Amino acid sequence: MAEKRELNVSEKTINLCVRRGIIFPGSEIYGAPGGFFDYGPIGVEIKRNFESIWWKYFVRDREDMVGMDGTIITPAGVWKASGHVDSFNDPLVECKKCKKRFRADHLIEGALKINVDGMPLSKVQELMQQHKIVCPEDKGELSAIKAFNLMFKVNVGSVEDETSEAYLRGETAQLIFVDFKTVQTASRKQLPFGIAQIGKAFRNEISPRNFVFRCREFSQMEIEYFIHPNKINECPYLQPFLNFQVAVCTADMQAKGKNDETLVVTINDALEKKIIGTQWHAYWIAACMNFFISLGIKKENLRLRQHTKDEISHYSSETWDIEYKYPWGWKELTGLANRGDFDLKQHMKFSGKDLSLFDEEKKERIVPFVIEPSFGLDRTLFTLLIDAYSEKVEDGETKIVLKLHPSLTSVKVAVFPLMKKDGLKEKAKEVYEMIRRQIPCDFDDAGSIGKRYARSDEIGIPYCITIDYDTLKDDTVTLRDRDTTKQERVKINEILSKITLRI
Ligand code: GAP
Repeated sequence: MAEKRELNVSEKTINLCVRRGIIFPGSEIYGAPGGFFDYGPIGVEIKRNFESIWWKYFVRDREDMVGMDGTIITPAGVWKASGHVDSFNDPLVECKKCKKRFRADHLIEGALKINVDGMPLSKVQELMQQHKIVCPEDKGELSAIKAFNLMFKVNVGSVEDETSEAYLRGETAQLIFVDFKTVQTASRKQLPFGIAQIGKAFRNEISPRNFVFRCREFSQMEIEYFIHPNKINECPYLQPFLNFQVAVCTADMQAKGKNDETLVVTINDALEKKIIGTQWHAYWIAACMNFFISLGIKKENLRLRQHTKDEISHYSSETWDIEYKYPWGWKELTGLANRGDFDLKQHMKFSGKDLSLFDEEKKERIVPFVIEPSFGLDRTLFTLLIDAYSEKVEDGETKIVLKLHPSLTSVKVAVFPLMKKDGLKEKAKEVYEMIRRQIPCDFDDAGSIGKRYARSDEIGIPYCITIDYDTLKDDTVTLRDRDTTKQERVKINEILSKITLRI
């Protein structure tokens, strides 16, 4: 009999997500097509919390940022200009026996443990042949590699011809470039400033995998930060981050085969040693890293990896990924590219419209440079859940504790009556009604207190309140902390101020 394998933390997190209806495959009753996921009651709250935390950190709290919300269906011209129609391709192979389709780069990565992101197709093909890579399902012979475009094409209106061609956006970024002039005029922002957007993006991934890590419909949170082309090394916000330490894996290290090694440097060192090319890029890298750490992601699970010259996108002169240490290896969590003036210039060329700005000092027109921090919402949420997942053994039973940052959890406090009788349930309802008007709160009176703690711990509720017989005498309750399991006696009229201070 095959030995039962211990699940890794990502598999355990997926089980929890599906069992508690946090995130689960979409349209399940119709067979759940791969790469589409829905959020249930707990998941949608965590998602909304994350969106507002991100928006507050990167947009509301800054005077140099504004937001926008663009359309999902966009004319083909946008994606011809951006290069997505021609170059947004993945290397597809098909098994001649079972007809299943795979990404050739994923097969090579699995077999040879090397990263071939962005490698020219001819070279990927060479590696496939050289290492005799076959179908992972039935060992069948694989077809030659074909470039498979990831964009979802649609036709707008009743006529299906070239003029009605449009695409579901493959990234939110392009809408920011297309609307750059309108948003700049409306907001009266001067360089340097950024435009942020949160919204859906669509990619017809050949092999969606690892739950919401790689799916076909997902949300992005992107910033296009516009800088005067002569001032890419004049970042007024850099100072507080100069001593911020980052673990880096540079393109040079990867060229020497040191893909799994990192070098710990400060942002200051990284700039002085020209590891990171420009001040603004270094600043945004540090700000994004800091954001993840402030949400509780363990720093040792994060690193920075530079894109090699084979994999770097056509629009970028320098790209760094913030990578997370997943059970399937270090992989991209967030990308930070120096897009220069590529996109604005492309849209000027293709649309014939002027997207330049007037430099009052030099009395000349300039096209801003762009640093782009690009986050995947679903991927980040999944990563936060994996990072927060923990287990403890209590009375011989394994229990899950989701140590999610309290600002992210769907519910901040759960109220339990010790018993349903003797007026305890009524008193607990009173307390629950008082709290739920101020902060998200749950009421649970089913099963033993231990079971109720376990149910709330596994969805990360930071505090539980128990109403017992002493409550009826002195108006105090026990307040239990999820992470320490310590309990303290608190006056009912002090609960709200105590909890609000901590969430
Ligand atoms: N505008 C640049 C851009 O879109 P990207 O590296 O292709 O760059 C940015 O995507 C982020 O979007 C990634 O770091 C990841 O978090 C998320 N992302 C990309 N493809 C995804 C997919 N198929 N499923 C889930 N998230 C994805």
